[in-house]
Amino acid sequence: TQKIIIDTDPGQDDAVAILLALASPEIELLGITAVAGNVPLSLTELNARKILELAERSDIPVLAGCDAPMGRKLVTAEHVHGKSGLDGIELPEPSTPLHPGHGVDFIIETLRREPEGSVTLVPIGPLTNIATAFRKAPDIVSRVKQVVLMGGAYFEVGNITPAAEFNIYVDPEAASLVFGSGVPLVVLPLDATHQALTSRDWVQAMADLPNRCGPAVASWTDFFERYDREKYGSAGAPLHDPCTIAWLLRPDLFSGREINVEIETSGEFTLGMTVADWWRVSGRPANALFIRDLDRDGLFALLSERIARLP
Ligand code: BDR
Ligand code: CA
Repeated sequence: TQKIIIDTDPGQDDAVAILLALASPEIELLGITAVAGNVPLSLTELNARKILELAERSDIPVLAGCDAPMGRKLVTAEHVHGKSGLDGIELPEPSTPLHPGHGVDFIIETLRREPEGSVTLVPIGPLTNIATAFRKAPDIVSRVKQVVLMGGAYFEVGNITPAAEFNIYVDPEAASLVFGSGVPLVVLPLDATHQALTSRDWVQAMADLPNRCGPAVASWTDFFERYDREKYGSAGAPLHDPCTIAWLLRPDLFSGREINVEIETSGEFTLGMTVADWWRVSGRPANALFIRDLDRDGLFALLSERIARLP
């Protein structure tokens, strides 16, 4: 099994990513660290606990991490995810409290405790917690097996500004630190995740599942889809964050290139851009596997099969 920590700002697509991990015996979820992103930290940590209770997995610790980017004011995305961050279905107040301690320290302690090269970090929100952990405890960087993150965009360009994707834009300094850390990096950018569009039939199949998690996934994707339909006229909701977990389970469903990716931290119009050297013209060494394409049918078949296993 692959040991992972999910670092997240739920978020409907974050929720589906967490459920996919919980449904997959190949994965051991050591803990969830919440970060400020789609909505403030007080809501993302609450949402993470609600999702675990829905799946009857409150044994997994949820820790609150950083409540603001490393050097900037927080930008949120209620316009996409709703006021709660997890609009679509009303989930009960969780009865399990937050795990004591800070999310950043949990990341550090877990990496120091577990065998070297055994823990994968899966950030699906802004990179604040991961970067803060790397800065506070540089010794853990070489202990990380890999970082598999959702963030960035190159050919598809941005969703929060013309040039930048949300997770990177919110904390470009954190992203720059992680991309420059030397850690093995797998990047699932919008170029790939915008191909992970839900279909009507798939959402209906989720709604029809005889469990609680299937209908929850259907209501989240219904809510999430509204934004893309109104904004871009697109049919379907892009399931960005589940692509990270799907890559861990089935890397054969994805294709990309080992290239150099740099983060723009100062551009007037390009702040937070992931400058991806797809044609390897810069001479800078590769620091990431940058995914560009995915097998849509394969991805949704995997999701259906796994979500059906949950309570
Ligand atoms: C990313 O931003 C968030 O709104 C989503 O949860 C995803 O992690 C997509 O740009
Ligand atoms: Ca997210």
